[in-house]
Amino acid sequence: MNHVPRSEIFDDVYFSPVDGLAESRYVYLGGNKLPDSWKGKGEFTICELGFGTGLNFLAVLQLLAMSPVDGRPKALHYISFEKYPLTKDVIRGALSHWGALDLVLDVLLSKYPDNLTEGVYDLPIMEGVTLTLIIGDVNEALPKLDTQVDCWFLSGFKPSTNPGMWSDIVFENMARLSAVGTTFSTFTAVGYVRRGLGSVGFDVQKISGFGYKWHMLVGTYDGGEQCA
Ligand SMILES: C[S@@+](CC[C@H](N)C(=O)[O-])C[C@H]1O[C@@H](n2cnc3c(N)ncnc32)[C@H](O)[C@@H]1O
Repeated sequence: MNHVPRSEIFDDVYFSPVDGLAESRYVYLGGNKLPDSWKGKGEFTICELGFGTGLNFLAVLQLLAMSPVDGRPKALHYISFEKYPLTKDVIRGALSHWGALDLVLDVLLSKYPDNLTEGVYDLPIMEGVTLTLIIGDVNEALPKLDTQVDCWFLSGFKPSTNPGMWSDIVFENMARLSAVGTTFSTFTAVGYVRRGLGSVGFDVQKISGFGYKWHMLVGTYDGGEQCA
């Protein structure tokens, strides 16, 4: 599909050419059991590695808007890291294909920074929803984050061309910022990602992937507890 942006640096697409929105819902929302996971929570924090076009964020916003008031968290904090931020025009071009996202896309673009220099941008998106967009390399910026994360969206480009998004620094800091029960999901099922997440305390499962991908990974942080 010609609306799917492609990165020359990483030789990969930003989302599935089969259907990026359906992929977001399957891999990231379904993979983290949303909306059930946030039901009844006070503040709920999602941390994404790789903001890209913001498609995952918009899928979350749409899910939140469709959830009954008693099925939502009181506040949603969405933190996302991005080293190569896209411009508003590129984001609109990539996402305007989905008419169903028009409302939330307009809201995002009205808050998205014009000046895309490295730094932390706290963007109040709507009542009860804050987007913290951290522009910079995840390996330098994630170690500076100090918050408790409820679920992780691991949305870098494929590990073979974007190994920096799947480093030991990333895995160790995910564990540092997780509590027992924190979940993650990712489109990839590559062995070293599975082992890296397992080695820092995530119980990792391989499940069916989206579209033409055979497998993906989901899991829950268990604090590194071993079965007796
Ligand atoms: C597959 S795309 C993200 C797709 C995104 N979730 C979306 O909905 O469009 C991966 C993103 O990770 C970013 N990225 C790659 N390496 C990075 C790094 N070391 N630190 C931070 N972001 C990085 C890329 O610039 C790209 O935007």
